[in-house]
Amino acid sequence: MANKYDLLLESILAQPKMIPKHVAIIMDGNGRWAAMRDKPRTAGHEAGVRAVKLTVEAAMELGVQYLTLYAFSSENWKRPRSEVAALMSLLSRTTRRELDELIKQDVKLITTGRISGLSIARRRVLADAVQKTRNNRGLVLNLALNYGGRTEILDAVKAIAHSVKAGLLDVKDINEERFAEFLYTYGLPDPDLLIRTSGEKRISNFLLWQTSYTELYIIDTLWPDFGRNELLEAVADYQQRDRRFGKVDSKKSG
Ligand code: IPE
Ligand code: IPE
Ligand code: MG
Repeated sequence: MANKYDLLLESILAQPKMIPKHVAIIMDGNGRWAAMRDKPRTAGHEAGVRAVKLTVEAAMELGVQYLTLYAFSSENWKRPRSEVAALMSLLSRTTRRELDELIKQDVKLITTGRISGLSIARRRVLADAVQKTRNNRGLVLNLALNYGGRTEILDAVKAIAHSVKAGLLDVKDINEERFAEFLYTYGLPDPDLLIRTSGEKRISNFLLWQTSYTELYIIDTLWPDFGRNELLEAVADYQQRDRRFGKVDSKKSG
């Protein structure tokens, strides 16, 4: 007999138009997960890798096209040096270990953020994975690394100012679409659904421009405990929403 979540999957897939094209996740709560087990915070980060794998697989099962994971914020450098080093090491180890699997799954890996702020060794591992998956046609897995929303907007403003100064862009041609072309996320649709785990009700400098009309979903589950069932529940919840974009109720007005 089909279990509860297989039935949920079936009902989600029955509404293909309401499957989010782009899901973004603030993967939070690793430290608290570890503390509950009297383990060091880094054990929580290690445990979070399993949740990433389960989430990537479930996103593919659902037909989500873009999955953006907030893996390291520009503010996370302020953590103890040992934790930053452990996170960076985990990032390259995991990328290297999972590369074959990503290729097999037809996943295209991309990154968003100031990658130049990472060490050359880490950049090499990432660049290799990005390069080897660049022609893949399945899920686009976007890792937000050394990412900060305000910095991204400022970087765009600076690039635009340079373009104007160089005579390549006219001020009167700057509109929302044009502006978005200067963001790190150029080419990606805005997230339809933003999930944050561990119950914190804040954006923490994530995709400030891109989430203006994103549906928010916050759950208390800590990131290492997140997986297929939780993603299915989030997407099912999303399917009940009425996205109005400032207009009147679309379900009532037709
Ligand atoms: C999220 O878990 C992982 C990163 C920010 C890299 P945290 O490390 O923030 O876990 P908590 O919030 O302290 O529980
Ligand atoms: C947001 O989590 C950043 C990532 C998940 C990478 P934080 O744990 O850093 O956010 P705050 O500090 O609680 O706002
Ligand atoms: Mg946190």
